Amino acid sequence: MNSFNRLAVVISLATLFPLSAYAAAPADSKGTVEVVHWWTSGGEAKAVEVLKKLIEKDGYTWQDSAVAGGGGAAAMTVLKTRAVSGNPPSAAQIKGPDIQDWAALGLLTNVDEVAKANKWDTLLSKTVSDTMKYDGHYVAVPVNIHRVNWLWTNPEVFKKAGIDKPPTTLEELYAAGDKLKAAGFIPLAHGGQPWQDSTVFEDMVLSIMGPEGYKKAFIEHDEKTLTGPQMTEVFTNLKKLQSYMDPDGTGQDWNLEAAKVINGKAGMQIMGDWAKSEWAAAGKKAGTDFECVPFPGTQGSFTYNIDSLAMFKLAKAKDTAGNRAAQNDVAKVALEPEFQYVFNQNKGSIPVRGDLDMSKFDSCGQASAKDFAAAGKSGSQLPSMAHNMATSLAVQGAIFDVVTNFMSDKNADPAKAGKQLASAIKAAQ
Ligand code: GAL
Repeated sequence: MNSFNRLAVVISLATLFPLSAYAAAPADSKGTVEVVHWWTSGGEAKAVEVLKKLIEKDGYTWQDSAVAGGGGAAAMTVLKTRAVSGNPPSAAQIKGPDIQDWAALGLLTNVDEVAKANKWDTLLSKTVSDTMKYDGHYVAVPVNIHRVNWLWTNPEVFKKAGIDKPPTTLEELYAAGDKLKAAGFIPLAHGGQPWQDSTVFEDMVLSIMGPEGYKKAFIEHDEKTLTGPQMTEVFTNLKKLQSYMDPDGTGQDWNLEAAKVINGKAGMQIMGDWAKSEWAAAGKKAGTDFECVPFPGTQGSFTYNIDSLAMFKLAKAKDTAGNRAAQNDVAKVALEPEFQYVFNQNKGSIPVRGDLDMSKFDSCGQASAKDFAAAGKSGSQLPSMAHNMATSLAVQGAIFDVVTNFMSDKNADPAKAGKQLASAIKAAQ
């Protein structure tokens, strides 16, 4: 059963369950908006607070329904349960092709009026606006563009280990790992959770196969690519990279691993630029306290991850003019410059509208914006598989399983992993 059917089965049970009410709003509130998201690390919480404050300034009540768990798998489970019980939130963090599945079930509402009044069609690139639209109508608002293929390093730790610059090739990455290990540091901070394993895996696919191979593997699911000799090379390198990963990283949250690099216990972390939210929250400066470089071998490509808030049709009991106005306010505020600047500086991402002054951003943010534009021209803006942008959640889940099983099996055979990948993807389609 594909993800759409699975979701449909879950949702069709919706009428069997009772509704629950919003938490009490202050007497002078114009309406309430409840938002489900998974921005719960210290830096991320600071970022989401920006939206909350702006909504409150407009006289509405923000009901925060944060569900901890990087990558959002736990939040998605909660969201499905909420939809099943006929009690969806007003808005939820839903991304990429998944937006279409939720909309096709008739669960999302359109925010065309807000979009038209605020000229979203001219503000957003076509790739972005197409993702936010279902059947020609806006059902979600994008808030940012994250780059996934980054490597974060601590220059002070590098210096102590005798490494003079961040690695740009896989060979340099392993050499840095060896030096860090020899100097008593954790070479690579990494939390062994499926989405983190697959974030590293997609970087490795891009590094070894290049942008065309990445597209063949994760967008076209081309069997030859999935089972070919380059995929064996990817898995072989993944095993090698694993030998540098934090031995205490099993099941660890990404932000706790980031903290090890920030605190000088580890030298590097492979993570999307939400990792920068932790550095920023700790008062650290890009270019001096930390450095960001593309994952070795992926220079010139940009794996993108666009966070967006999808708007739900409100349940009858909550469907008041005030609550609808609160929902529209989130859609409006989310694309306004004030929010885009402050939120993205806190979140580590770049604005989703291209007309803002990037000189307000740090060197990593500026590099990201520049690389995004260049990758657009060279055909190497790539949707992140690990962050819900490239495939259905069912196919993504199948890939996660194969990668995580491979990483947890000491004797796993890199030559077999590609075949497992191809058949798991086929079964999930
Ligand atoms: C991504 C999400 C980011 C960040 C990260 C860690 O999927 O797009 O905004 O939250 O997960 O949880």
